[in-house]
Amino acid sequence: MKPVYLDYAATTPVDARVVQKMLPYFCEQFGNPSSLYAAGRAARQSVSQARRQLAALLDAEPDELFFTSGGSESDNWVIRSLAEEALRHGGGHIITTKVEHHAVLHACEALPQGIEVTYLDVDAEGRVRPEQVKEALRPDTFLVTVMTANNEVGTIEPIAAIGALCRARGVFFHTDAVQAVGHIPVSVKDWQVDALSLSGHKLYGPKGVGALYLRRGHKLAPLIYGGAQERGLRAGTENTAGIVGLGFAAAIAEAELHEESGRLQALRDHLFALLQEISGVQLNGAQDNRLPGNLNVAIEGVDQETLLIRFDLMGFAVSAGSACSAGSLEPSHVLTAMGQTPEQAAQAIRVTLGRFTTEEEVEAFAKALGQAVHDIRRQAV
Ligand SMILES: Cc1ncc(COP(=O)(O)O)c(C=O)c1O
Repeated sequence: MKPVYLDYAATTPVDARVVQKMLPYFCEQFGNPSSLYAAGRAARQSVSQARRQLAALLDAEPDELFFTSGGSESDNWVIRSLAEEALRHGGGHIITTKVEHHAVLHACEALPQGIEVTYLDVDAEGRVRPEQVKEALRPDTFLVTVMTANNEVGTIEPIAAIGALCRARGVFFHTDAVQAVGHIPVSVKDWQVDALSLSGHKLYGPKGVGALYLRRGHKLAPLIYGGAQERGLRAGTENTAGIVGLGFAAAIAEAELHEESGRLQALRDHLFALLQEISGVQLNGAQDNRLPGNLNVAIEGVDQETLLIRFDLMGFAVSAGSACSAGSLEPSHVLTAMGQTPEQAAQAIRVTLGRFTTEEEVEAFAKALGQAVHDIRRQAV
């Protein structure tokens, strides 16, 4: 059987339509967007078009977008730049959650003395309540950063409510929307966010390109000093092909989001119904308010590593949690924050479906899982 890829939350393949759009930028339209002659102007226009395409997907203005190398860079930029600014005024306080991606958590942990960070708890489904943010706010809070949707369990956080709260209190609100952009409708205006991170490789664009949305009127310290690219905030010759790819991936997502998210949700629910025929299968994360392609389940008495090795041999790519924690024996920080014991967390597998997932693949996976669980349990007795 052909390998079955069910790990779209880790990364997505580049859509063939995106590849076609990118190809001319390597050998034909390779001009430097900063050059003044025709080839440079053409490249500059392509970068501008990509910025408009991405802005349309986010309900943002093109001049509010800065291209970066991806989600981690965008997260680090906003957190470190605001912390640097706060330190110039004696320090301050950040509010985030215990279930953020490591790009946020480790960036916060690495901040120098003078910055205090509150890591909010989440409920058993991985959700934080806006009231918790409200209660944690302090006069010196200069940043609230809460992810839009969780990469392990797919839970969607109440971003609009937190945004309204922060706007009313005049506190900068950032959301890591890496898992959400292109998969659920995103409106930076409705959500009242000040900054938002996204990544190309999670929405069928290329790896190594992403963006930071920064609301008009806000200023960040430059991430990279040098030329005038990205309005002097991130110097360096633009990754034109990557940016064009991200822009076109955003345009496809915008056109197809509604239909595709419905298809994925139905496929995901079908898969969950099939998995429920296996005894001891429990959903991790929210039933509703969940990313359409995400299914994360715990299988009682079955260790995830045994299962994943078996699946790998059979040609199924699924994950134990986030790609970064896979391979390490650390229990998932997301599942433990949701109140699970390390033993429970070690029974979780994450199956994430995407644009090229078919019903046949999902059914083949459910069958293989049923068989694997049966064999593993039989060996255990
Ligand atoms: C929620 C979240 N934030 C940030 C990242 C990092 O993005 P990138 O790989 O583009 O640096 C990821 C990637 O897994 C993610 O899922």
